[in-house]
Amino acid sequence: MSETVFETAGDRMPGDPTARQLVERMIRVDHAGEYGAKRIYQGQLAVLGRTDKAEILRHMQAQEEHHLKTFADLVATRRVRPTALLPLWHLAGFALGAATAAMGVRAAMACTVAVEEAIDEHYSAQSAVLGEDEAALRNTIEEFRAEELEHRDIGLANEAELTPGYRLLSRVIKAGCKVAIAVSERV
Ligand SMILES: [Fe+2]
Ligand SMILES: [Fe+2]
Repeated sequence: MSETVFETAGDRMPGDPTARQLVERMIRVDHAGEYGAKRIYQGQLAVLGRTDKAEILRHMQAQEEHHLKTFADLVATRRVRPTALLPLWHLAGFALGAATAAMGVRAAMACTVAVEEAIDEHYSAQSAVLGEDEAALRNTIEEFRAEELEHRDIGLANEAELTPGYRLLSRVIKAGCKVAIAVSERV
């Protein structure tokens, strides 16, 4: 650890994480987030799997599987400790997906829009602080961010905003995402 302390000595304050620790946190939280995303779509498909929305949900789920696989590989190759909270996101992701789907297709889509808006912000912030030494990771994040925005647009095209109580539902889900992100970076 001590050799990394000087990497960013210029603007590091005592107690600040090193550049390497910051990147490890990014990989940890992104892995957790993509895991949760996959579980949300699984929960939605458990309820809506026999409806005419199943195909589009499976399309989004397949992209989340790819995101998850990519971050799982990064966790392995860079020896990042995965979050200890995966069992929680396993349950919470599925529950969020199934509960919103049980409220109806529009609520399921409202869930997707809220989650993807939170992830868009999150990935934008990560991408902005990654330099040329992490160009590959930055490109991966930007590529996934574009797909998350596609998911958001699918949600909007499927009348997410017509969900009764849309604004409140959206606010609650986004707040939950922010808490999940904050704890999954470190725990
Ligand atoms: Fe994703
Ligand atoms: Fe997504």
